[in-house]
Amino acid sequence: MQRDLEKLRAFYAEAPDDICLSDVDLDRIPSHVSIIMDGNGRWAQARGLDRSEGHVAGVDSLRETVTTSVRLGLDVLSVYAFSTENWKRPQHEVNLLMHLFATTLLKELPLFHQENVRLRFLGDLNQLPDETRSVFQEGLDETADHDGMTFALAVNYGARKEIVKACREISELVKRGELDPADIDEELFSSHLYTVGLPDPDLLIRTSGELRLSNYLLWQLAYTEFYVTDTLWPDFDRWEFLRAVRSFQGRNRRFGGVTGK
Ligand code: IPE
Ligand code: IPE
Ligand code: MG
Repeated sequence: MQRDLEKLRAFYAEAPDDICLSDVDLDRIPSHVSIIMDGNGRWAQARGLDRSEGHVAGVDSLRETVTTSVRLGLDVLSVYAFSTENWKRPQHEVNLLMHLFATTLLKELPLFHQENVRLRFLGDLNQLPDETRSVFQEGLDETADHDGMTFALAVNYGARKEIVKACREISELVKRGELDPADIDEELFSSHLYTVGLPDPDLLIRTSGELRLSNYLLWQLAYTEFYVTDTLWPDFDRWEFLRAVRSFQGRNRRFGGVTGK
């Protein structure tokens, strides 16, 4: 966990009434925060705008959230940007999202350089349009040497698909005689998930009030703390993030035991 205290304090100046930086314990910042960014469509509809305007506005929230995560000193920020079920949306919305992912990533590469952020993707990228896939590859190549926070973008991600992929890969190893079924354990299974090498999320935030996982990180969230806010994703900001962290710090994480924090 790396953190520049001076930058952090400047970033969190001018606090609203209900929350300020001193409300959180900087020694207990979650290592990995994951976010289901939801509510872009409703945000736009409430303003009489097209849903696409909500997705465009959501990019600003994501940029602020990446910066917030770096300032707080997270090791990993992961966000759900497009699910395997989101292909069911109208074609023009899917096209807009795929184009937005590509253009945004290109535009934000300087931020990743400046903040030493390493990029990763969770999901099956093979199904993405060429433009999106090639920009994603560029993002991976350009940030491969960064050793600050990891930013993992889940695109065409589905947890069930991920688990089936792991099963298939492990079965192949067994079939080729390279793996004894008795050696399959949780660690080995995790190493065949998109999240290989990442710690499980400590905190999951979902915006827009929905109380469901929508096929997100079913394996990895086994002991994650949940925080749901009614705030729609385009309205999510650094203060909302701090409220979520404060809530997380008030939890008693027992992991099945009887004591502990
Ligand atoms: C989240 O916002 C963005 C994606 C799923 C791509 P939505 O587009 O789901 O917004 P609502 O839930 O319809 O308001
Ligand atoms: C979950 O949001 C997927 C992402 C945020 C990318 P959805 O808006 O697709 O979820 P449902 O359909 O309300 O469950
Ligand atoms: Mg939604």
